[in-house]
Amino acid sequence: MNNIFSSITLGDYQLSNRIFMAPLSRGRAVENGVPNAMMAEYYAQRASAGLIIAEATAVAKQGLGWMNAPGIFNDEQQDGWKNIADAVHEKDGRIFVQLWHMGSTVHPDFLDGELPVSSSAVKQKGSLTTPKGRDREFAVPRALTKTEIGNVVQQFVDSARRAIDSGLDGVEIHGANGFLVDQFTRDGINQREDEYGGSIDNRLRFMMEIVNAVCYEIGSGKVGIRLSPSNKVWGIKDSNPKATFSRAVTLLNEFNLAYVHILEPKPETGDPMADADYLTPVLRENYRGNLIINGGYNKKTGNEALANSEAEAIVFGTPFISNPDLVERFQADAALTQPDNTTFYTSEAKGYTDYAFMAV
Ligand SMILES: Cc1cc2nc3c(=O)[nH]c(=O)nc-3n(C[C@H](O)[C@H](O)[C@H](O)COP(=O)(O)O)c2cc1C
Repeated sequence: MNNIFSSITLGDYQLSNRIFMAPLSRGRAVENGVPNAMMAEYYAQRASAGLIIAEATAVAKQGLGWMNAPGIFNDEQQDGWKNIADAVHEKDGRIFVQLWHMGSTVHPDFLDGELPVSSSAVKQKGSLTTPKGRDREFAVPRALTKTEIGNVVQQFVDSARRAIDSGLDGVEIHGANGFLVDQFTRDGINQREDEYGGSIDNRLRFMMEIVNAVCYEIGSGKVGIRLSPSNKVWGIKDSNPKATFSRAVTLLNEFNLAYVHILEPKPETGDPMADADYLTPVLRENYRGNLIINGGYNKKTGNEALANSEAEAIVFGTPFISNPDLVERFQADAALTQPDNTTFYTSEAKGYTDYAFMAV
């Protein structure tokens, strides 16, 4: 029976364990979204993860609305990612990067006052920090034209190409958490009347076009996707998440992806993101490939989920922030360090690369 320490073949790769690191935005790319030496050190420290899924990384300036988040749309950024890939490979790790377009949650402050884009001109509830201050409320976006949709698909392809050329092992398409792909998927936001809106298949067209084009460019064994069917962040909602996301994974069966990644805490975790209608089991039934799951897991519940064949691997987020050697700590049944959430998004090494390894 598999446990979190069992090796696994995932797409093009043989991975040494099933303890994966979740994408975690940390806001350390302070110079023009270029990954720096401190980030290379941080990821290398965590290289014993079976797979690192590096933080959400913008495919275009238009999609970047998070302070000091990295990008992967110019040569300088690509070179920065090369240093990270080299540092992780030096420690025998494997690393994908999460490709991200924030859509309507990009504040105009990041766009020289221009409006952000989305599936429809529907404002999301909420605010983010921008160069002009904290809690800057989201604007009403403008709907992408069909030509522009094609351009965004191409931005995902170009970024995936850059990721592979930089030496990263693959990409995870960010289809979760209320960002642009999710803004097309869910009918609480998508009100289009063309072939990108209306029926479930129409709303999933944007996602599938990205997946198809990225797989064509770099090979499906280097591509994963993240979905968050019950996440209602920034008021995003769908009239029938069960039908929408079951259909999504059914369509994704056609691509032979490295994995589908579901962020959905179980109701019993009490996580505010959890929903009584826990959909992962339904998605598991409909998806034939590798499913990896995230949301409040620890060693015990992760092993239980694998023993029950709920997924092929477990993805850990916050535990990896404060335990660079999480895999070794799980092996030793050692105590875990608790993360300090006041340093999650600060720009310094404190709370980033200075979490201690176990004493040996
Ligand atoms: C500081 C922080 C940054 C995050 N950044 C991202 C991100 O870049 N992309 C993403 O899909 N999820 C992001 N998340 C969500 C995590 O990937 C993960 O889903 C969440 O922490 C739940 O997993 P956990 O209970 O193991 O921590 C972030 C969460 C935190 C706490």
